[in-house]
Amino acid sequence: MCIGEFHRGRRLRRTEFIRDMVRETELRPADLIQGYFVMETSDTEYEKPIPSLPGQYQLSVDKLVARVGVAMGKGLRSVILFGLPATKDPVGSGAYATNGIVQQAVARLKKAYPNLVVVTDVCLCEYTSHGHCGLLSADGEVQNDPTLELLAKTAVSHARAGADIIAPSDMMDGRVGAIRAALDEAGFTHIPIMAYAVKYASAFYGPFREAAGSTPAFGDRRGYQMDPANSREALREAAADLSEGADILMVKPAMPYLDVLRLVRDNFDTPVAAYQVSGEYAMLMAAIENGWLDRKRTILESLTGIKRAGADMIITYFAEEVLDWL
Ligand code: PBG
Repeated sequence: MCIGEFHRGRRLRRTEFIRDMVRETELRPADLIQGYFVMETSDTEYEKPIPSLPGQYQLSVDKLVARVGVAMGKGLRSVILFGLPATKDPVGSGAYATNGIVQQAVARLKKAYPNLVVVTDVCLCEYTSHGHCGLLSADGEVQNDPTLELLAKTAVSHARAGADIIAPSDMMDGRVGAIRAALDEAGFTHIPIMAYAVKYASAFYGPFREAAGSTPAFGDRRGYQMDPANSREALREAAADLSEGADILMVKPAMPYLDVLRLVRDNFDTPVAAYQVSGEYAMLMAAIENGWLDRKRTILESLTGIKRAGADMIITYFAEEVLDWL
């Protein structure tokens, strides 16, 4: 074989500047959404480490506001909030209480940082004593239609507190339509919905449920979240949420579902979000803390892969840290 007969891909990998020039995917601070757990407590200094999520905390509202301020100084633009109420009940009242923990946190954050994009997770599971994402029937079934009204109420209460984007994560059928109608009726036609459209019944949510105390008291979520074996179903879920008024489609988890992310990206022209969930963070951090994986390179590679697969934006517990490197 003569020299020159084969493809010389190395020409464009020879120097750092050439590699930078031909790079196809770039992470930007504007792509990243940091998740926070905010706790309803009278202890304004409350800041409790979450053992399975090293570097992540349950925070009082004051601590949250301070922490977000520091992160914004490094370029953070967006957060998603998860509330940990002081008490729980069978109907998840804390989720839609006017002065609930997320409502308080949103109001304080928006007052301190008007430009910050505050996304709120709309679900009942952190607020119900049984840990399910909806109302239960007498025989322990999660009831779809009666739950919709409570989700809509939750969404409107978040918008009233000042939320910029509403993100329903419950996986009840029809919730995007119910929330869109309720927001519009309450005067929030301008508030977008980021639908957890393609949300799998994943074991990778384990650390989140420990942090939020939202593990179902019985059974599991396979009756409403998607079967990890299905990808065509993802297209049906995405189409349904779009038809009901979703503005942004989310795929969750991210790394084990990059094929689904690509499928959704290729089939819809809507912005697509990916959620690098708690178990993905825990897995990477465990290896990093053992010295088995390089911290910076592994974290950046994980996020670049998610973006390359088609995500326009990424919810990740690594956002704060990554901002130091971009
Ligand atoms: C609420 C909700 C969950 C997550 C986000 N919103 C938990 C669940 O569905 O059980 C998981 C996020 C993560 O693991 O980081 N329904």
